[in-house]
Amino acid sequence: MIEAQGKESIVRQRYAAGAKERADKLCCLVDYDSEYLQAIPREVIERDYGCGDPSRHVHEGETVLDLGSGTGKICFIAAQIVGPKGRVIGVDMTDDMIEVARRNAPVVAQRIGYANFEFRKGRIQDLALDLELLDQELKQNPITDAASFLAADELAAELRVKHPLIASDSIDIVVSNCVLNLVEPKSKWHLFDEIFRALKKGGRAVICDIVSDEDVPEEMQNDPELWSGCISGALTEEGFIAAFENAGFYGIQILKRDAQPWRTVQGIEFRAVTIEAFKGKQGACFERNQAVIYRGPFKEVLDDDNNRMERGKRYAVCDKTYNLYKKAPYREFFEFVDPLVEVPPAEAKLFDCSRTALRHPKETKGQNYVATTEANSKCCDGGSSCE
Ligand SMILES: C[S@@+](CC[C@H](N)C(=O)[O-])C[C@H]1O[C@@H](n2cnc3c(N)ncnc32)[C@H](O)[C@@H]1O
Repeated sequence: MIEAQGKESIVRQRYAAGAKERADKLCCLVDYDSEYLQAIPREVIERDYGCGDPSRHVHEGETVLDLGSGTGKICFIAAQIVGPKGRVIGVDMTDDMIEVARRNAPVVAQRIGYANFEFRKGRIQDLALDLELLDQELKQNPITDAASFLAADELAAELRVKHPLIASDSIDIVVSNCVLNLVEPKSKWHLFDEIFRALKKGGRAVICDIVSDEDVPEEMQNDPELWSGCISGALTEEGFIAAFENAGFYGIQILKRDAQPWRTVQGIEFRAVTIEAFKGKQGACFERNQAVIYRGPFKEVLDDDNNRMERGKRYAVCDKTYNLYKKAPYREFFEFVDPLVEVPPAEAKLFDCSRTALRHPKETKGQNYVATTEANSKCCDGGSSCE
């Protein structure tokens, strides 16, 4: 039986050893883009304990946060993709992992020509707390009794506010490669809230992790080898997606799901998936007379606000939803209908997003619209076949 704190120290011990010497059992085979591996020292590439490649979803100029960055491989790849205008922060709780990443950082910087990355010590379920700052403070004021323990607790709370390891709303994309499953059960939900907090509005998370096809029984969860080996801490496929939903993410989708399990234990399959989830649905809804038409191919869809939309029908949406649907991951699924006369934002009234309403074409054109026009030549590409 291992208690929560026990799980975390077992994980730390196992990855401290994995930082010093490659541990084969801890990784799936991942096909990283070889173009980016050339600048990365062998020691880093060898100590790869990932199960996917979230760096493929990073864009130029973005600020990236890698959760459980290990020896730094994903950070060093992402650093090359975001380029000198972007920035990459790796967070890990294991000193030996951070040591390898920091020691190799100048080599990568020299090879790519800039240093747009850094490695910080923290727990990914508590991204506000800078563990190196706390370490420094505790060296000066060690915990020796109950009073100093309570003082340390207060100090940690103060550090989270005054010197957060990762500030709120500061990150364009949070990535992670095979780490979330290692977080102790009681902190798992908080972990998703922390990812949400760190992201800017409009930002996204792309997480590669191991999930199970069935609930993992308690005896398996209490097996230290299976827990620290990225097996028994896995959420179920459904539970993983629900965790993003509960934290307030929208537009959640499975980008990749390995058909073959990585491992099967007592009949339960454990496989790698990559999930993408967006932040930015929060905020007031305003009526600007816009409409969307769901293009199909399904007969109907249910959106993250529980609005059910049938294929081909015009639905009234608020300005925020209209603009969200114009972007990834939705834009290919909708047609967009602008009102004939724009409603200026300052004049827009509140819109009730909790009900689904169809939008009559007269609402977008205006009740008095009675125009009659000549044939639009663009309809026939300027040809004569419509004449
Ligand atoms: C399976 S390895 C993956 C490392 C890296 N992402 C890769 O692709 O090679 C897990 C890493 O997450 C770190 N880790 C595990 N639990 C953590 C936590 N709660 N907070 C921060 N780091 C954690 C470990 O120290 C280790 O470096």
